[in-house]
Amino acid sequence: MSTHPRSPTTPAAIRGNTYQRINFAEKFSLFSEQWAPKVIAEMNDYQFKLVKIQGDFIWHDHVDTDETFIVLDGRLRIDFRDGHVQLGAGEMFVVPKGVEHKPFAEGEVRLLLIEPRGVLNTGDEGGARTAINDVRI
Ligand code: NI
Repeated sequence: MSTHPRSPTTPAAIRGNTYQRINFAEKFSLFSEQWAPKVIAEMNDYQFKLVKIQGDFIWHDHVDTDETFIVLDGRLRIDFRDGHVQLGAGEMFVVPKGVEHKPFAEGEVRLLLIEPRGVLNTGDEGGARTAINDVRI
């Protein structure tokens, strides 16, 4: 018998946790618009966002944070001023903060983005292609 002290925990039911799994395919079936990230979960101050993209985006950077791209379906190219990286399904890349980048996808790509709450898809560039933040599905 263990005498190791355990910290008190709040029962999951009281916290409102229904132990609902998150299924990427189900979430992707809920929207078709491209370039409009949807929040599916949060971890501390970070958000997990699903997005469908196709075509060319704008050059931008995020001065305060890195940005993680995880490709779930399709092929993504991320251009940098001095090179590029190609990603297929099951591959990921972390764009360092302050590095200019421009995503491009010939066909539609399904991505999982991980970044801190409040990060805009267009970084500090702004403009017409800036998506609304904190849209949850
Ligand atoms: Ni970015």
